[in-house]
Amino acid sequence: MRNRLRRLRQNPVIRKMVRENSVDTDDLIYPVFVADGENIRNPVNSMPGIFQYSLDRLSEIMDRVKALKIPAVLLFGIPLTKDECGSSSTGDHSIVYRAVSFIRQNYPDITIIADVCLCEYTSHGHCGLISGNRILNDETLPYLASMAVTAARAGAHIVAPSDMMDGRVGFIRDSLDREGFKDVMIMSYSAKFASSYYGPFRDAAGSAPKFGDRKSYQMDPANGREAIREIASDIEEGADFIMVKPALAYLDLVKEARERFLLPVVTYNVSGEYSMVKAAAQAGYIDEKRIVMENLISMKRAGADLIITYHALDVAEWLSESD
Ligand code: PBG
Ligand code: ZN
Repeated sequence: MRNRLRRLRQNPVIRKMVRENSVDTDDLIYPVFVADGENIRNPVNSMPGIFQYSLDRLSEIMDRVKALKIPAVLLFGIPLTKDECGSSSTGDHSIVYRAVSFIRQNYPDITIIADVCLCEYTSHGHCGLISGNRILNDETLPYLASMAVTAARAGAHIVAPSDMMDGRVGFIRDSLDREGFKDVMIMSYSAKFASSYYGPFRDAAGSAPKFGDRKSYQMDPANGREAIREIASDIEEGADFIMVKPALAYLDLVKEARERFLLPVVTYNVSGEYSMVKAAAQAGYIDEKRIVMENLISMKRAGADLIITYHALDVAEWLSESD
């Protein structure tokens, strides 16, 4: 035997020297739920450790994000009122506008990514306007664009459309440019699948559809080639970052996105992935820290540059303990 691969594994120093990938705090994006109202710190039942905060208590979580040096947050708004076309998603009184301005003013070093989608704001819970049971595409685009412009005016650095309407990246890009926000970046949920892994998020954001499902706009989990078409068209429309979502069951596409395209690749370690780990850890079936780090290193190994994860605070803390 000339080749003994175990030579490179014989002690921790050698193992560290030949380690090919790492998870760094700078790779992490933490999702934050901001609810309109006062004195709110509501636990999300299906997501242990995750809360909705009102603006007057948002510092409780943002101070931790800052102290742990997490570079960016992804904001989801929970409005007081909903209607057919999600009008509470726009304007200076919207929770998006107020939450973004608050963070921009009080946490100037944190990058603000604003989710852009109507499902938290529509009475029917779909990501676009509806006509009967149909989800309308082109009619939805101006609403998404005004939500993006609202976030940009409030000081968001990045807008992240998660609706999966066709043509929304280009439409949003044009609107941002027209309003003078040429430097506001677009992180597009390019390959977003109609996944059952979003269940806990819909509790957290109050955004479950009241009828039907999202299969006419989000992707079929069986389709990998189509995911590449989605990503390619978002890039043509001006996306600055591309995303694959969920993460773990879709790492083949993270890898393919990394190999085919030159933009930063983001993957979203979604709510269901988080809750499964939390539940198993609480039951004592797995070691939470090790499982989380193994999941995240797999995303990096597949080629993700950035990971959106509800574990971000814990991970940042673990990483700071280990150096
Ligand atoms: C809304 C949205 C969803 C997620 C992010 N934005 C849910 C959905 O599409 O129903 C999922 C995030 C998660 O599960 O953590 N467009
Ligand atoms: Zn949506």
